[in-house]
Amino acid sequence: MENPHALPPTFVQRLRQARHIAVLTGAGISAESGIPTFREAQTGLWARYDPQELASPQALRRQPGLVWVWYTWRRGLVQQAQPNPGHLALAEMERLAPRFTLITQNVDGLHQRAGSQNVIELHGNIMRTVCAAHRHEVTQWEPAPEGEAPRCPQCGSVLRPDVVFFGESLPAEALQRATEAAQACDVMLVVGTSGVVYPAASLPGVAKDAGALVAEINPQPTPLSSLADIVLRQPAGKALPLLVQAMKRNFFAQDGF
Ligand code: OAD
Repeated sequence: MENPHALPPTFVQRLRQARHIAVLTGAGISAESGIPTFREAQTGLWARYDPQELASPQALRRQPGLVWVWYTWRRGLVQQAQPNPGHLALAEMERLAPRFTLITQNVDGLHQRAGSQNVIELHGNIMRTVCAAHRHEVTQWEPAPEGEAPRCPQCGSVLRPDVVFFGESLPAEALQRATEAAQACDVMLVVGTSGVVYPAASLPGVAKDAGALVAEINPQPTPLSSLADIVLRQPAGKALPLLVQAMKRNFFAQDGF
């Protein structure tokens, strides 16, 4: 699909008429910015280490130095990356919709850098650092000896990125707001997620049960494909700008432009 005319007209209509659009994004939306996804990438440290083993409280206790090397590498990738046309299209969609909630599983902050305002970060943000004991937010620390993690200048506990590790609960308030948005939206776009990590993966079902139209944008099928009303098998950086173009065309047509 190369142009907005090829989009299903009923889908465009629902998007244009929606009072509240919710979007759930996953690692796939940042793939075109050069950030490897979790379950596909065979590059860099992903190829050598299992993220599920490194992003855990146990790993931080047993191999703090290695966990820090891994996160320092990931932070470097995020700092070098730029928002891609998919992120930018979602920021523009927010400006077109009466209400818009962007729920992301990503920790890279690229949605905010693209200009999105109402962003719920379900899994935290990799650029923030907190202490393991009290979650003090820390911006400066002494470098750690090799094989260790740096320590909190306030309490001396190990520092960690402010992200949700495997086995940890999601931030309660973020999950609550995301669930409310899923219940209240008219359309939910599910973009670039493999749909296997819960509770994030339950949100499209919540939206669907509440009567929303659910559309999946992902080049590959996922366990969420069967509940989606519309499936666009395209990269987000291609499909989302087309959706915005289509919304604008109808938006202006409706207003007599
Ligand atoms: P995954 O790596 O599991 O899935 C990435 C998805 O993006 C796949 O379904 C791909 O087909 C799709 N994809 C790849 N390129 C794309 C593109 N250009 N446009 C659209 N889609 C594309 O990533 P997530 O579903 O985000 O959690 O993973 C969920 C969670 O698992 C992550 O937030 C992380 C991980 O454990 C935590 O760190 C807590």
